[in-house]
Amino acid sequence: MNYKITVLPGDGIGPEVMGEGTEVLGQVAKLYGFTVELEHGIVGGASIDAHGKPLTDPVLNLAKQSDAVLLGAMGGPKWDGLDYSIRPERALLALRQELGLFANLRPVKLFAALASASTLKREVVEGTDLLVVRELTGGIYFGQPKGITTLPDGTERGVNTEVYTTPEIERIAHVAFQAAQKRRNKVTSVDKANVLEVTELWRKVVTRIHKNEAYAGIELEHILVDNCAMQLIRNPRQFDVLVTTNMFGDILSDEAAMLTGSIGMLPSASLGGKVGMYEPVHGSAPDITGQDKANPLATILSVAMMLRHSFDQVAAADRIEKAVEAVLNEGWRTADIQEPGCKLVGCKQMGQLVRDKIAQLG
Ligand SMILES: NC(=O)c1ccc[n+]([C@@H]2O[C@H](COP(=O)([O-])OP(=O)(O)OC[C@H]3O[C@@H](n4cnc5c(N)ncnc54)[C@H](O)[C@@H]3O)[C@@H](O)[C@H]2O)c1
Repeated sequence: MNYKITVLPGDGIGPEVMGEGTEVLGQVAKLYGFTVELEHGIVGGASIDAHGKPLTDPVLNLAKQSDAVLLGAMGGPKWDGLDYSIRPERALLALRQELGLFANLRPVKLFAALASASTLKREVVEGTDLLVVRELTGGIYFGQPKGITTLPDGTERGVNTEVYTTPEIERIAHVAFQAAQKRRNKVTSVDKANVLEVTELWRKVVTRIHKNEAYAGIELEHILVDNCAMQLIRNPRQFDVLVTTNMFGDILSDEAAMLTGSIGMLPSASLGGKVGMYEPVHGSAPDITGQDKANPLATILSVAMMLRHSFDQVAAADRIEKAVEAVLNEGWRTADIQEPGCKLVGCKQMGQLVRDKIAQLG
């Protein structure tokens, strides 16, 4: 098999972590007898500098014509002053929308070796293994009307609109129930149905989809977003699959990230169309860019998600995940997950350690 993959390293630490991710990809391709054709494109701030906009048509077309997209991170202080319409992060939103990626899957699994790297107590986080399914192309980030207008008295008024339609909720609910079937058969739907009509509809539709007989074995519970934020740090083990709106998912998945010790550990998959997109959850980390301090494991684990979800190369994905776990078990750590007595390494060495372990695991 030959897979055509669009590689978009982006800004900040994006190129550093992507370098390690693609090295791992090349290695497992050889080991498992498939080939990968990597086509690099520039996006985000780098594209603004080169072309005046964060996503160009040739890069978008490249992505559309590939089998999957691997993305680093976008943005940084250099471009913070730009108008929202051409900010680096716009490229991310445009890619999601153009590729029809309405479902964002963010697994939050605590590696046992990192139980004490979390800011929360070991007994709270140990055993955490949940999946956040976030709606990605609707809700308040896209709803109209939006914008800032000047009122007659000279003051300004800012507005965004939270909007969901029945089909948008139905399709993300199916993704969540199907994901739960491969896990522990429990879905928690997160809303603010006590205040927001739009999420009253969300709750109604999710409840109806759950009645589908294919989902008979799945437990469904509803939780208000404020309570969910609290429960995530009180008792995260109660959750299996969390399904929620674009904005609530954005916030809750970063909160959940801290259960694992560092945002530098978390991969993600965006699915829904023909082409899946895989990226670490973290941003461009301008504070550590160019210092070989970035944790490449979220990107390496995103490569594993791509192999599993887009290419069904399950054995290769398993081997990467096992190698990451083994390296952590031996005490190797990047700065973001360091703890007393650990063996501190940089981005490049962490990537090399994972590749050495992949080779040994054979
Ligand atoms: N998907 C994306 O491209 C994406 C996501 C979030 C933020 N951003 C953008 O990234 C820029 C910086 O945002 P931010 O600082 O809020 O979030 P961030 O995720 O870049 O960084 C938050 C903190 O986590 C640390 N961190 C992040 N990734 C790490 C890694 N792999 N290894 C070690 N430490 C890591 C950073 O050093 C920083 O202290 C902004 O321009 C923001 O808009 C992009």
